[in-house]
Amino acid sequence: MQVIHYKKELQNVLFSKENKNHTIGFVPTMGALHKGHLSLVKRAVNDNDLTIVSIFINPTQFDNKEDLEKYPTDLEKDIALLKKVSSKIIIFAPSATEMYDGNITSKEFDFNGLEKVMEGEFRPGHFNGVATIVELLLLAVKPTKAYFGEKDFQQLQIIKKLVELKKLPFQIIACPIERESNGLAKSSRNQRLSKSTREKGGFIFETLKTAKSKFGTENANSITEWVAEKFAANEVFELEYFQIADTETLTPILKKQKNIKYRAFIAAYADGIRLIDNIAL
Ligand code: PAJ
Repeated sequence: MQVIHYKKELQNVLFSKENKNHTIGFVPTMGALHKGHLSLVKRAVNDNDLTIVSIFINPTQFDNKEDLEKYPTDLEKDIALLKKVSSKIIIFAPSATEMYDGNITSKEFDFNGLEKVMEGEFRPGHFNGVATIVELLLLAVKPTKAYFGEKDFQQLQIIKKLVELKKLPFQIIACPIERESNGLAKSSRNQRLSKSTREKGGFIFETLKTAKSKFGTENANSITEWVAEKFAANEVFELEYFQIADTETLTPILKKQKNIKYRAFIAAYADGIRLIDNIAL
């Protein structure tokens, strides 16, 4: 298993004579890998000659210092999990100084409003940090295809916009959400939930599924009110936002229109941990 810590070293391997005509699949992660990440990695291994998985906890995308400090890390375990998928995967695990060339700050981006709603509203600066690091990583790896999960649907749309605006010649592949058996979306943060909260974690997805079934007959306002009431009556999960939005622009729905696809998004807290999920309507 090859673990590389420096951009130059990575490029020497990727752009060597031997690998010159190889297709490169890239899966950026912050580590603490679970089945959600591994579903992206399996897809990349399947589609490409070479697969790179980056493991880098990006400091500039954390709007909450405690969340950054408590973010789980276990490189040895991550390596073991990736090895089970394929021993040919190359792991890129740079330091922050290496990744940012010593200047650990975000650039400012304008994504046509995509960055202003939902996560953008509640996590100021978050998407500037995400876009800054993803651009740096894409330019370092120069992948044929890069894989992102629909779990972070807003992030996925922003990365697609980033690639379009910067005219980067990399294909962005969207991958479906992996869930625990009770429906809780897999997340590195789930391991910080108490056992009993994790067992009750299906509540978020159950609420999204019911919202989806209501979307056929009820308007978005009444569904939003219903979701707020469901959360108010629940002792474990605290709602931050529920939003039905246009899948492409992420603008909140005003009136349901034909030929437009919608998605419902939730952010909620449990045990002080922030969880997000979404569903296609
Ligand atoms: P991280 O949260 O580690 O997630 C890495 C990738 O795995 C993202 O594309 C995310 O959407 C995907 N993912 C996470 N949980 C998933 C699940 N349950 N099902 C499917 N895919 C899932 O997202 C980030 O890291 C960072 O913001 C990053 C893009 C690496 C930039 O720092």
